Amino acid sequence: MSRYILPASIFGTVFGGAVLLKNHLTGGTCPSKARIPGKTVVITGANTGIGKETARELARRGGRIIMGCRDMGKCEEAAREIRGSTLNPHVYARHVDLASIKSIRSFAEKINQEEERVDILINNAAVMRCPPGKTEDGFDMQLGVNYLGHFLLTNLLLDKLRDSAPSRVINLSSLAHIIGEIDFEDLNWDKKMFNTKKAYCQSKLAIVLFTRELARRLEGTGITVNALHPGVVATELGRHTGMHQSQFSSTVLSPFFYLLIKSPELGAQPSVYLAVAEELTSVSGRYYDVMKEKEPAPQALDQEVAVKLWDISASLVGLETTVSVPTSSPETVTPVKVLPEEIRTYQSEPTAALTNV
Ligand SMILES: NC(=O)c1ccc[n+]([C@@H]2O[C@H](COP(=O)([O-])OP(=O)(O)OC[C@H]3O[C@@H](n4cnc5c(N)ncnc54)[C@H](OP(=O)(O)O)[C@@H]3O)[C@@H](O)[C@H]2O)c1
Repeated sequence: MSRYILPASIFGTVFGGAVLLKNHLTGGTCPSKARIPGKTVVITGANTGIGKETARELARRGGRIIMGCRDMGKCEEAAREIRGSTLNPHVYARHVDLASIKSIRSFAEKINQEEERVDILINNAAVMRCPPGKTEDGFDMQLGVNYLGHFLLTNLLLDKLRDSAPSRVINLSSLAHIIGEIDFEDLNWDKKMFNTKKAYCQSKLAIVLFTRELARRLEGTGITVNALHPGVVATELGRHTGMHQSQFSSTVLSPFFYLLIKSPELGAQPSVYLAVAEELTSVSGRYYDVMKEKEPAPQALDQEVAVKLWDISASLVGLETTVSVPTSSPETVTPVKVLPEEIRTYQSEPTAALTNV
């Protein structure tokens, strides 16, 4: 009997230590218990992963949840499951393909017509390291879905968010933004050799720049906007990467990954935190690493780049006017009229077209 005591206590210590270390490394759960009855949440990419668990937690807290997904079969199934597990009947599946301007416009139009309010917008959907490909409108797939699609959607919902203020926009970025670079000469990988990793990093850097610039333009409106890195989460995001498909990583390396990688439920906690925490009501333009505020990478702090990216993005997605809300410095509000020809020019000759804005 006594010969089992030592191995059992070693096992117990290692196991207990691993659980504590995992909790420490993964950031834990949202400290706020705030409920959100009467609030409407719009969340993209909510049929799986972090988005689905964020939708579930916010439904559990009493919100009215609009799940925007590209696959209606998966979306209806996830919405049904969330209604069942939370006993909240107000969880709705809606179609949006962020790789299509037409689809984003129709999704936003329905929300603007049918919903009384939008209190929380969570720009969650993304594709990572997918093969080269373009959206319906000719944008690089990762830039188009992860950034430009959400840039357009957010702008189209701003009036509703403003009417519902205090309201919040939450943008899912990634730690990967720190090695991102914005290439204004070739945003959409039309000229240089495609690099899927760099394309993902560019899109996630663009989201942080967008967050900061939008926050600046929305000062004083009661709409806040923040970005976050959710941590490393076991979801379908890595579906295009070798690691995800390899037997070796899913068997041999999985015990090591256990320590560092968290469940989608834990991965949703930072989004839930930014959506509900009382102390964040007037916090805007910040970047959170899990639930701790951090300074983003230096290239995400460059305001000149942020303004240039905003203007080019508005033209690319064909926004007739950008933020029409008051800002602290009126000269920064740039109403942009864009003709379809100019949108095409941007895709092939971004620097020449810049002078049109
Ligand atoms: N997981 C991580 O470790 C990690 C780390 C850093 C940042 N993030 C960020 O966290 C967010 C959520 O990622 P996740 O890990 O939960 O990934 P995920 O499991 O792959 O979920 C991504 C969601 O985005 C949707 N989506 C993809 N393309 C779309 C399109 N064209 N239109 C509409 N929806 C689309 C997917 O729909 P389908 O199911 O139809 O494909 C899915 O619902 C992403 O912004 C990601 O960059 C995640």
